Amino acid sequence: MDQQLEQLRTEALAAIAGAADETAVEQARIKYLGQAGALTVVSKGMKDVSKEDKPRIGKLLNDVRTAVTAALDERKAALLASADAAAFAGVDVTLPGTASRLGSLHPITQLQDRAIQIFRRMGFALADGPDIETEWHCFDALNTPKDHPARNEQDTFYMPDGRLLRTHTSTIQIRTMESSAPPIRIIAPGAAYRRDEVDATHLAQFNQMEGLYVAEGVSVADLKGTLEFFFRELFGSDAQFRFRPHFFPFTEPSFEVDIKATALGAADKWLEIAGCGMVDPAVFESINSKRGDTAYDPEKYTGFAFGFGLDRLAMIMSGTPDIRYFTQNDQRFLAQF
Ligand code: DAH
Repeated sequence: MDQQLEQLRTEALAAIAGAADETAVEQARIKYLGQAGALTVVSKGMKDVSKEDKPRIGKLLNDVRTAVTAALDERKAALLASADAAAFAGVDVTLPGTASRLGSLHPITQLQDRAIQIFRRMGFALADGPDIETEWHCFDALNTPKDHPARNEQDTFYMPDGRLLRTHTSTIQIRTMESSAPPIRIIAPGAAYRRDEVDATHLAQFNQMEGLYVAEGVSVADLKGTLEFFFRELFGSDAQFRFRPHFFPFTEPSFEVDIKATALGAADKWLEIAGCGMVDPAVFESINSKRGDTAYDPEKYTGFAFGFGLDRLAMIMSGTPDIRYFTQNDQRFLAQF
């Protein structure tokens, strides 16, 4: 039996070493270790082995089985490794790969998101309104009379039914006050439209962000504090501001905000960045008559409002010389943000 086992070992190891592929290895396994395999058959004969031979033969049987199992595993691994090597033949894995191109948010969207985050921290909620508006929401309610130049057919896109593309996001102030009573503290980003000749600083469709705060005792100090905090978050804490008296029909007093910031490069120039003011009581009165109540009692409530152009702000912050870059979808431009 010893001899038979030794012979089986030699034969099996030779067969495994010569197995050319995985199928051949599997066949060898069945032939020697399978249910009817040669080694299985031998081990069944163990019961006829004499008592004194049993330990020796048993140990030999085990050795042979272990050796055959190990050889099978080894051969299989070697075959797999050479299959891998064949698959990579001619491929230089040390060459750099092709990077996939990641998209990103548009620079105006990035700025808008940042602005929303800053105002959120001061308790402002997001408000929205339609792009196609009534003349009342865009002009009348905002104390802008019929003969105001902004209402000229040459300056505004009118629909055949008399509605128009909103010329500013101030319409959302009106929409919000129509539907909710004070106190109100909202910001409203959105598109605005004007019949402007498109050039380096004008687009027929652009983006604004509006703000409105109405409550008891709101003052110009609150307006200045809020806008200064906001613009310092954007431009850095060393930014300087100037609130220059101006005129808007819907605020009294009204201001334009100018900024000087070292972060902008041209640090000794004042740049106009926003319009703002204290809500004109006439605006509250038109809201009241629309609502049919006195929710916005001008004797009780005051408020401030502001609006700025996101495109213009993005241009200033990034040093972009031409507003049209933001709409051309040129990857060479957008990839810089
Ligand atoms: N609506 C103005 C514009 O488009 C900007 C503006 C100025 C908005 C003053 C306001 C404000 O809310 O108070 O030029």
